[in-house]
Amino acid sequence: MSITTDLLAHVPLLRELAPADLERIASVTRRQEFEPGENIVEIGDPGRSLYLVLKGHVRVLYPAMSADFELARLEGGDFFGEMALLNGKPRSATVRAVDRVEALVLDKEEFRRILIDTPQVAVELLEAMSVRIRNADEQISTLSDKAVRDPLTGLLNRRAFDDRMGEEIERVRRYGTHFSLILADLDGFNSVNDVLGHDAGDEVLAWVGRILIEHTRAADVPFRIGGEEFAILCPSTDAPLARTMVRRLVGVIAEATPPVGHALTLTMSGGYAECPEHGRTVKEVYEVAERALRTAKAGGRNQVCGPEKTAHP
Ligand code: CMP
Repeated sequence: MSITTDLLAHVPLLRELAPADLERIASVTRRQEFEPGENIVEIGDPGRSLYLVLKGHVRVLYPAMSADFELARLEGGDFFGEMALLNGKPRSATVRAVDRVEALVLDKEEFRRILIDTPQVAVELLEAMSVRIRNADEQISTLSDKAVRDPLTGLLNRRAFDDRMGEEIERVRRYGTHFSLILADLDGFNSVNDVLGHDAGDEVLAWVGRILIEHTRAADVPFRIGGEEFAILCPSTDAPLARTMVRRLVGVIAEATPPVGHALTLTMSGGYAECPEHGRTVKEVYEVAERALRTAKAGGRNQVCGPEKTAHP
């Protein structure tokens, strides 16, 4: 056995191959070394070879505006560069050596011939690629979750709120359903930050987030839509029920003790509106609920107001 054949026998992708097949592949692969930090393949380049990592580590990177995003880390036994060879498109990512990397390089035609001649290798390749797709799916879901979630409270953010309001309005229009929007705002929150500091302010916000999750029904969706502003979208909920819910929440906040290590009485004001009763667009429903919230604030805080009696035309 030549040295390369021996090495090939230890590459998982090729492990099912007979010695004669390995001999043939060994005769057409070349061994190559890469320095730490060297780009072995670069995104956008045409793909000419497949790389089987023998030693060292590589990072698979997707260059983004702010920094390179790491898609994966590969090590001895792994392969890369298969995608461009299979789909004829440019390299999908940059692959960079982390430390000194030793790889076997196989050119495109040879790689395709191996896949056609040896179904076991094709199956191994599919298995490895399905693991990569699954990992990529997990990364995508984590990232998209980050895009819509407020990290401090764990609640959905303003962006998610705008989307969900749009969806809920569409449901009302199509299926004749109804929902209520609750807006809630902590009273005098700035003085918490001023007196106790921003860390305590953050603790309070996270605590309010937990209360909103605990004291709403499974179908209700709480959001943090601004500094100390919260919203709750309540599907299939009419205005009287929304009123009961937000009054209960305001009561819970007023009676509970925020976990900031100091005596602190915190209150919240709330407003609500029902769709389509008080508005038929995102803007209308939001504005009615916001006006109600402002009335609650103006009326002395720690209270709840609903839409003015004039119903939507
Ligand atoms: P190719 O597109 O030819 O060149 C870049 C290589 O990076 C690609 O083939 C794969 O081998 C590898 N790659 C791209 N995306 C991922 C990923 N999400 N996980 C692991 N490897 C990847």
